[in-house]
Amino acid sequence: MKVFITAIIPEIAIKILKENGIEVIQNKDYLPIDNKKFLNKAKDCDGILCLLSNKIDKEIIDGLPKLKVIANYAVGFNNIDIEYATQKKIWVTNTPDVLTNATADLAFALLLACARRIIEADEFTRKGKFKIWQSDLMLGKELNGHTVGIIGAGRIGQAFGRRAKGFGMKILYFDKKRIPEFEKETGAKFSTLNQLIKKSDFISIHTPLTKETYHLIDKKEFEMMKDGAILINTARGEIINEKELVNALKSGKLFSAGLDVYEFEPKITKDLLKMKNVVLLPHIGSATFETRIKMAELAAKNIVNVLKGKKPITPVNKIR
Ligand code: DGY
Repeated sequence: MKVFITAIIPEIAIKILKENGIEVIQNKDYLPIDNKKFLNKAKDCDGILCLLSNKIDKEIIDGLPKLKVIANYAVGFNNIDIEYATQKKIWVTNTPDVLTNATADLAFALLLACARRIIEADEFTRKGKFKIWQSDLMLGKELNGHTVGIIGAGRIGQAFGRRAKGFGMKILYFDKKRIPEFEKETGAKFSTLNQLIKKSDFISIHTPLTKETYHLIDKKEFEMMKDGAILINTARGEIINEKELVNALKSGKLFSAGLDVYEFEPKITKDLLKMKNVVLLPHIGSATFETRIKMAELAAKNIVNVLKGKKPITPVNKIR
């Protein structure tokens, strides 16, 4: 049995695979490789362990006839052609749960950073501009008593909601269906997307990227937002039309935005780089020591299970 790991990941994954008698081929780099190189390296593999930056398309799937499992080192799996993999009876797995708290923490950190202008204030201080305490210096927005709208109340959206409750915020959420336990725990109120957008002082995106959520936040949605709203995105960049986001930030419609993901990742729209009212992070939602190790463990165990003829622990498709 042979597994191709597309990039550098915590050693624990390699250890687990090897302990289970699996040969490991690893690309010891982070840069995405083109399909030709990918197929060359992954030749004869029974499994692949890949990152969200690897596009696993028909060509890759067809080029690996022995492939039985694609283990994504991420909870999101929009980088994989799930439909085709399922058709070819290949399991696809992800790494849910283990990264929930880390990602919710980061989304909340972005919200605080935007609302209280943390990055701008840090820069101001470092530049030696702090001369005297001023009553109107770096005024920001208070979270307590204000409304946060959560788009996508899955595991991470709900964890974000629990944090918001702790900060005394009112919560609106939009999802495919109502989640009574979440409502009971946090007082969150189910809403339509439009109502959530219109009523929220802050909006945080936690929905997966699908055909339906591509550009979910577009010109019309920015227009509907409250003046001075704050938008946070730790999900996937393509959910926001980045050109329209720039316009909303430039016009002052938005107070600020906190982004961990980008429409053209890893490229960042140039205008955003020049703006003071955005906080930009390099897709580090799950980047804690503990979480990254747990993600590696889970991805490797998913592969081991499939290669031993068992069901994976966290599948995203169904194979009969
Ligand atoms: C994911 O898991 O989908 C995140 O975006 C990366 O940790």
